Amino acid sequence: MDSFELNKIAAGIIIALLVGMVGSLISKEIVNPKMLEKNVLEVAVTDTGAGSDVGASSAKKEAEPIEALLAGANIENGQKIAQKICSQCHTYDQGGANKIGPNLWGIVGSKIAQHEGFAYSAAFKSQTIEWSYENLSKFLFKPRDFIPGTKMSFVGLTKPQERADVIAYLRSLSTSASHD
Ligand code: HEC
Repeated sequence: MDSFELNKIAAGIIIALLVGMVGSLISKEIVNPKMLEKNVLEVAVTDTGAGSDVGASSAKKEAEPIEALLAGANIENGQKIAQKICSQCHTYDQGGANKIGPNLWGIVGSKIAQHEGFAYSAAFKSQTIEWSYENLSKFLFKPRDFIPGTKMSFVGLTKPQERADVIAYLRSLSTSASHD
């Protein structure tokens, strides 16, 4: 091999490298277009959508602890929410009728599925829990996740403060002064 030939080989290698580099630059531009500044799916995350399970994969999976929020809960707002979205199925007054769901007087602190004259689902009847604030919160967050098979067909109250307000209202449905 003479030096001329060596030069040719060297030149060949350099050209090949250059072509490779340029090629990879171009292909990076093509394959990796600039990232969007914001996650497009963010819309679904902030949407607590009363009525859709779409986007559930990106939504919160668990109810956050409710006790702290109860301290600042607004009973009147809870009543409003309850009137608006629960009263198609529930009544709240003492001795009130069962509708699609059982009457809710005195529900806080009582055992599940105990209201007289209401035909609970098998899923409900197989439970032994008490309606503590935490259990109510988890149930109202996503009823069918907390008690699979429940016939309460309600999608859930995903906003923590709304849940706290509603639970505070439920707590007020009692003659006993022992609730703190
Ligand atoms: C579409 C009708 C419907 C709506 C809306 C609804 N519920 Fe219910 N609820 C039911 C039914 C039916 C049951 C009984 C579930 C079962 O037996 O599986 C129930 C059960 C309950 C229980 C347990 C009662 C017990 O005796 O153990 C609570 C608490 C409750 N609902 C609260 C609420 C609240 C608060 C809301 C509004 C945020 C609400 N529900 C909205 C139908 C409904």
